[in-house]
Amino acid sequence: MAQTEVEKSNAGQAPDTVNSTGPVGLKDFESLAPMPKSLAYLAKVQFEPEVGFQEVARVIETDMALVANLLRLANSAWSHTTSPVSTVKDALNRLGMSNVLNLVLISSLAVSMKKACSGYELGEDELARHSVAAYLAANSLLRFSQQPIPKGAATAAFLHDIGKLLLGRYITREVLDQIRQSVLDKEFKSQCEAEQHFLGTDHAEVGMAIAHHWGFPKELTVAIRRHHAPEVFDDALLAAVKISDSIAKMIFPLVGGWELEPAEQIEIMKVLGMVPSDIALICVLVEEEWKETEKFLQV
Ligand SMILES: [Fe+2]
Repeated sequence: MAQTEVEKSNAGQAPDTVNSTGPVGLKDFESLAPMPKSLAYLAKVQFEPEVGFQEVARVIETDMALVANLLRLANSAWSHTTSPVSTVKDALNRLGMSNVLNLVLISSLAVSMKKACSGYELGEDELARHSVAAYLAANSLLRFSQQPIPKGAATAAFLHDIGKLLLGRYITREVLDQIRQSVLDKEFKSQCEAEQHFLGTDHAEVGMAIAHHWGFPKELTVAIRRHHAPEVFDDALLAAVKISDSIAKMIFPLVGGWELEPAEQIEIMKVLGMVPSDIALICVLVEEEWKETEKFLQV
C-alpha cells in the first residue's frame, strides 16, 4: 500500500510503532478492563468491507456477554426502538456495525474513564465526558463533511486520549507544571513533545500502545498516536479525530487542554470539506445528544 503524506512526512518518527511507553508497564495495561477478543474483531472488520454481516453476527454470537450488552443497547430508549430486537442480526441492523463496537466499547471503559486522572488535572467523569463528546462529534461529521469520513473515525475519536489514563499515574504536580511551563516558554512545540522530554513517552504514544495491546488494527493505533501531530495533510481519518477532539473541548473545556492552531483548523476543514458554521452546528448537536447518551451509558 502507498504511504500517505503523513507517513512520508514522519518517516523518521515511526508514527506506526511504539518507541517507548516510559514508566507505563504491563501491569498498567492489565489494570484496564480486559478487552474481549470479539471487540478487537469488530474493531478490525470495520476496515474490511469484504467481511459480511453474517460472519460478524456469527462471531458476536460466540460472546454471550457481548450479545447481552448488544441486545440491551438495541432495545434501549437511546436507539429509538419501536419494536423489540431479539437477535444479533436484528441488533446489528438497528445499530449498525460501527455503532455496536463503539457503544459496547464506551460502556466497557466507562468505569475506568470516569475516575479522576490527577496527573492531567482531570476530575471525576472529565475524561469520559471528553471522550464520549469526541465520539459524538465524529459521528456528526458524517452529516456535514463533503468528503467521506473514514471508517474507524468515531472509535479513534473516543479512544484518542486513553493514554492519559495510564500515563497520568506517573505525572506528579511538579512534572505537570514543568511540562506546561516548557510549552508556554515555547521550548517545545506541543505538550506531547514536552511529555516525551520529561517522561520518555507521551499520552498519544501510550494510547497507541494500549490499542495495540488490545489487538486493535493499525488504522486506529496510528490515528491515536498522531492525534496531536501538527500536520494533517490529506489524512481524513486523522483530520476527523483532531476536529472531534477540538469540538469536544469547545463543549467541555479541559484544564490545560491545548487548542488547535487556527491554521490547523483551516487545514482540517479543507481536508473534510467543511466550513466554520458546520462546527457550530455540530457543537449544538453534540450537546443535545450528550444528554441522552450520558443517561444511557452512565458516563
Ligand atoms: Fe490528547
